[in-house]
Amino acid sequence: MSRFIRSAIGAVAALSCLVVIAAPVAVADSIREVSSEVCQNCHKEIYQQWKGSMHANSTALSDPIHGTFYKQVAGDPLQEGLKTKSGAYPVCLQCHVPNAALDKATKIDAKVSYKEGVNCVACHTIKAFNGINAPGGKLRLGMASYELSDSLQGPAGFSRGLQQLTAGNDMFGGAAADDSSKPNPHIGEAVTLDGKEIPSLPLEGNAGVMKSNAACMGCHDKRNNAHGVPLCATGNEYMVSKSDVTCQYCHMPMVGNSADHSMGGGHDGGMLKRSIVFTLDAKTDNGKVLVNATLKNQQPHALPTGAPFRNIVFRLTAYDASGNVLWQNAPEHPAKDDPQAYFAYLLSDDAGKNAMPPTATQLGADTRLRPHEQRVLGYEIPAEGVVLVRGEVHYNLLWKVLADKFQHLPEDLRSPRTIAVAEVRL
Ligand code: HEC
Ligand code: HEC
Ligand code: HEC
Ligand code: HEC
Ligand code: HEC
Repeated sequence: MSRFIRSAIGAVAALSCLVVIAAPVAVADSIREVSSEVCQNCHKEIYQQWKGSMHANSTALSDPIHGTFYKQVAGDPLQEGLKTKSGAYPVCLQCHVPNAALDKATKIDAKVSYKEGVNCVACHTIKAFNGINAPGGKLRLGMASYELSDSLQGPAGFSRGLQQLTAGNDMFGGAAADDSSKPNPHIGEAVTLDGKEIPSLPLEGNAGVMKSNAACMGCHDKRNNAHGVPLCATGNEYMVSKSDVTCQYCHMPMVGNSADHSMGGGHDGGMLKRSIVFTLDAKTDNGKVLVNATLKNQQPHALPTGAPFRNIVFRLTAYDASGNVLWQNAPEHPAKDDPQAYFAYLLSDDAGKNAMPPTATQLGADTRLRPHEQRVLGYEIPAEGVVLVRGEVHYNLLWKVLADKFQHLPEDLRSPRTIAVAEVRL
């Protein structure tokens, strides 16, 4: 910790007009270097939520799926001066290792603040969002789209002007009063906590950014590969939906008076269960079981959204009285057996064949559920002996071809997750 701290006489006065007496204080050398471990001292719950999130695990060293692609596209994450095949700085780091991107560094373990991926300071220094479309038609992605501050940015800030005015002759300007039991390093002075010295971490209120999509869109709007093919476009999908509900409403719900930082998505079983309404109707008619399966996307973005290899598979099975399978919609994979049951975003090459994200030259079929779309899938099953039909909705982080190929990945990243089930007894 101590390496973040330097003594500075009177630096507080420059940092905050609220402080009237200049005293020797510890100031963080650069806000960019401040580790999330420092924040943990006081924001324990938020730290725990963040630590379990993909933001804290976004680098090639901690996310095995990203790491696999990064090594293919860019190379060794522990090498300095890494360049892509076209001689460019790896754009991936702009979003996956934001603090390294700001230093144009590529050795991800060189600093704690790099290894931490999208850490507290990466988000909490966003002063303004300039959009991802740079003049001239190019995209500026991740940190390149943001204007950053040397001060932390918070959703509310500490509005102490009135307190100061009414404090009259109080030589501390009212700054000593605080309704929190924790010492507050955000109002211009270093503090001591359990014998530890915490540097001054000035913070200003910035509701306009922190409480709007601007805080997310630099990294979550859209991204193209080298051939201009859109690989993910959560922001674009959201724009089409014309929703006013911010990302924070769902991804940072208020829990116990504080915004939850778990920010779950495709890796989070709870979020996935919430994402869909799945209902099943079935009736027997003229020797057939007629089934309607209804799938409704609850989000103002696609389902699934994000990385192109996310996909959903719908499985419908008919059973006899002993639980034996009599009929299945897709004995192998619906991409082959039942295309309507496959919700995916496919990429292709010049010949129109399926292609991987780095090499795709055009979009393939996009059969995902559109924002708030409800889709009904109809089936006719031979009724003989059928007593039960069961539908299951499976979410996959990876296309099947990738899940089969990347045997080095942990099993839970390669296997489907059941996110909804419904049955009808006939
Ligand atoms: C020594 C304790 C301490 C440390 C360390 C600390 N904070 Fe805080 N922080 C506080 C207190 C006290 C508050 C005000 C009450 C509350 O929200 O808990 C606060 C509030 C905040 C807020 C909310 C401000 C708003 O606008 O509503 C943010 C954001 C924040 N801190 C970020 C950070 C970050 C990022 C770090 C690490 C770089 C950090 N804090 C380190 C004590 C600390
Ligand atoms: C991906 C971006 C992101 C990361 C990473 C992040 N935050 Fe936040 N944080 C936000 C946003 C956005 C808000 C405002 C949410 C709102 O009020 O709508 C926020 C709010 C807060 C608040 C105020 C909570 C409240 O509701 O009163 C604190 C404190 C805070 N963050 C601390 C931290 C700490 C500590 C870390 C690291 C352990 C961290 N944040 C990591 C984006 C982030
Ligand atoms: C500095 C870039 C950056 C910012 C700003 C940012 N994110 Fe992220 N976010 C990422 C990266 C990179 C990942 C993916 C990490 C991985 O899977 O390797 C991610 C992952 C996620 C995921 C989880 C995806 C999954 O696979 O489970 C959600 C949800 C998410 N972010 C929401 C948000 C929200 C909401 C905000 C704004 C409050 C935000 N992010 C701000 C970079 C960012
Ligand atoms: C109505 C609630 C809701 C809103 C609003 C919302 N999301 Fe989501 N989001 C979800 C749910 C539920 C999931 C999980 C299912 C899925 O992938 O669509 C999810 C998934 C994600 C993922 C995971 C993608 C992946 O690859 O795993 C990202 C990233 C994401 N959202 C970003 C955003 C951003 C950015 C915004 C704001 C523009 C936003 N979301 C708005 C509910 C919401
Ligand atoms: C504009 C920001 C941005 C850039 C640039 C970017 N990514 Fe990502 N990446 C994300 C976000 C956000 C997610 C997680 C949510 C989603 O799927 O959209 C993600 C997810 C991923 C995933 C899925 C990770 C998982 O856990 O399943 C892989 C793989 C990936 N990115 C590889 C790369 C590679 C390789 C590069 C560079 C060639 C790159 N990304 C560049 C923002 C970015």
